[in-house]
Amino acid sequence: MTKRRWRLSMLAVVAVLAAGVLLAACGDDDDDGGGGGGGEGGGGSIALLLPESKTARYESQDRPNFERKVQELCPDCTIEYANADQDPSKQQQQAEAAITKGVKVLVLDPVDAASAGAIVSRAKQSQIPVVSYDRLITDADIDYYISFDNVRVGELQGESLVSKLEEDGAKGDIIMINGAPTDNNAKLFKQGAHSVIDRSQFNVAKEYDTPDWSPDKAQTEMEQAITAVGENGFAGVYAANDGTAGGAIAAMKSAGIDPATRPTTGQDAELAAIQRILVGEQYMTVYKAIKPEAEAAAELAVALARGEDAPKGLVNDKVDNGQEQVPSVLLKPVAVTKDNINETVIKDGFWKASQVCTGKYAAACKEAGIQ
Ligand code: BGC
Repeated sequence: MTKRRWRLSMLAVVAVLAAGVLLAACGDDDDDGGGGGGGEGGGGSIALLLPESKTARYESQDRPNFERKVQELCPDCTIEYANADQDPSKQQQQAEAAITKGVKVLVLDPVDAASAGAIVSRAKQSQIPVVSYDRLITDADIDYYISFDNVRVGELQGESLVSKLEEDGAKGDIIMINGAPTDNNAKLFKQGAHSVIDRSQFNVAKEYDTPDWSPDKAQTEMEQAITAVGENGFAGVYAANDGTAGGAIAAMKSAGIDPATRPTTGQDAELAAIQRILVGEQYMTVYKAIKPEAEAAAELAVALARGEDAPKGLVNDKVDNGQEQVPSVLLKPVAVTKDNINETVIKDGFWKASQVCTGKYAAACKEAGIQ
């Protein structure tokens, strides 16, 4: 056993050394040859590994926008796509499979910020660069990070909720339904939200971290909160994203509470959330323009697959992931309420009026000037 282990680790050392020699021999040149000069390099395979499918964004926005941009920039590139369904070991296997297939770059949105470090080490053994997509991989040697200003997301949620409650002259407490404890973003959203709520006149009566960001678990948490504080024991709800907001709102409805009387936050500008906002069931969401996020990841991935540097002007920040200062692309989130749906998600083409204004939402759309 120990002998085998020793042999394995020697093998790993030899592999790393050999890879190092190869790299040194390659220098900074493009791998593909192809007549020199940047930009026109050949194809290669790119892995896109997304974390879950209960939240709508991944399959409806991130994946198609990423794939479209890669195809546009690099018609010869292929994409290895996988969704981990919130299972970190499944994600580990998916990464392993992609590496075995010879991908040249990993674009990884980690289920678990900490354990994804093992994936990064594995990729590095094969000289594969890693882009941490949307969620930060902590304490690992990643090459780039692309996301939004996530503390700001939490602040926007907190500010909208507190000012709405103040405006309504509401008295009472807030219930907080946070995201998954394994997601670094959830930690940042929570931090941003607390920085606002904690200095407001409102107390937090109950607070939960929601495993896997699961909407059904959020619903159970909200049911527990309502049982604990009573139907009239809370004035509003901080929900970290639209999925958890949907769960919290369902719990209110089944307890006979009109959700319009308890402002609830969200995030992602999911279609269902935009419709709930229109009819007053949810107070706000945070719009994160996922198209530019996915496209930035595609630009970066294509460059890395070709052995080139990041496209000029793309990287605009640095983020400390506990191990290093990671060159980052950080985008700006925007708060959305009924008043600015038209100027944000509709104007931006994130949703078409025809998608939002179906059936029972038509009248509310008209009222909000959405056509
Ligand atoms: C993302 C959110 C998403 C959540 C659940 C977060 O890391 O930034 O947009 O709602 O994960 O998947």
